[in-house]
Amino acid sequence: MAPMMDWTDRHCRVFHRTLSRRAELYTEMVTAQAVIHGDRDRLLGYEAEEHPVVLQLGGSDPALLAQASAIGADYGYDAINLNCGCPSDRVQSGCFGAVLMEKADLVAECVAAMRAAQPRPVTVKCRIGVDDQVAEEVLPAFLETVSSAGVSHFVIHARKAWLQGLSPKENREIPPLNYELAYAMKRAFPQLELCLNGGVASLDAVPAHLEAGMDGVMIGRAAYHDPANVLLGADSRLWGDEDPVKTAYEAAVAMRPYIAKHLEAGGRLHHITRHMLGLFTGQPGARAWRRLLSEAGGRREAGLADYDAALARLDASAAA
Ligand SMILES: Cc1cc2nc3c(=O)[nH]c(=O)nc-3n(C[C@H](O)[C@H](O)[C@H](O)COP(=O)(O)O)c2cc1C
Repeated sequence: MAPMMDWTDRHCRVFHRTLSRRAELYTEMVTAQAVIHGDRDRLLGYEAEEHPVVLQLGGSDPALLAQASAIGADYGYDAINLNCGCPSDRVQSGCFGAVLMEKADLVAECVAAMRAAQPRPVTVKCRIGVDDQVAEEVLPAFLETVSSAGVSHFVIHARKAWLQGLSPKENREIPPLNYELAYAMKRAFPQLELCLNGGVASLDAVPAHLEAGMDGVMIGRAAYHDPANVLLGADSRLWGDEDPVKTAYEAAVAMRPYIAKHLEAGGRLHHITRHMLGLFTGQPGARAWRRLLSEAGGRREAGLADYDAALARLDASAAA
């Protein structure tokens, strides 16, 4: 599962974990500054069942990143990932994210400091280049330089980021995908663990990338909008394990105790169910589920009875 700001918060990750025990989950990006100066439990707290879970950091100051990595390791994250792919303006002005594709030496310094500060693996998520860089030259040079600082796991979002003129959303759609270049990197650096990201739309699409040599596949938007289509059955198909649930409905039921606990602690139903609207995409009752949960989400006092009503409606749709 890809790191996605505002989307892959702890509630979302707990939900995704009900569908797959094996998929690696990523936090939203948290800046090193925020980890150091912000409300740590709010930014870094997570549920024990989320493992394996990776903390993604944003930043480009080796000392701050080292400090933030050590704090993340103390929280028990399984790995610390550095964001070298996010193109948003806010992130560019702080000199981090995709602009770091132009500064491989600085990235190497950052990851060396992050590794020295704590014992967890440090990984990098990058693009294939930015702006008018020649991806076929820049990406191998980037991997060479950064891996020489001790990083052996990279996630390659297989398109460029254009730093001027495109919104972050457009930067996930307009620059063309180049899977072949990611495959070529795996051939050139067989000792590195390279995961492919970008435009993968379903679990069915994963094996072809693995057969092409990639060590893993990271999925973002498709998994968020249609989680069952990506995560349901992943454990058996990709790892040969038993799946934690067999149906989307079982996943919805499995979420009930977590939702109850959150409500009892004073949280809102919407905090959790906003991530679950797409669970039944393409199935009978999907529209009613989305509508009932969205309506309940607008009410501060919405509770477990509203969730149960949405579940009951699905029972009725399945029986019809
Ligand atoms: C709403 C949203 C927020 C995102 N936030 C982050 C982020 O915090 N860090 C990051 O590295 N990428 C972020 N991304 C990019 C995704 O991790 C991923 O690289 C991109 O969506 C391409 O994968 P996909 O085609 O499977 O969605 C975000 C994407 C979306 C849609």
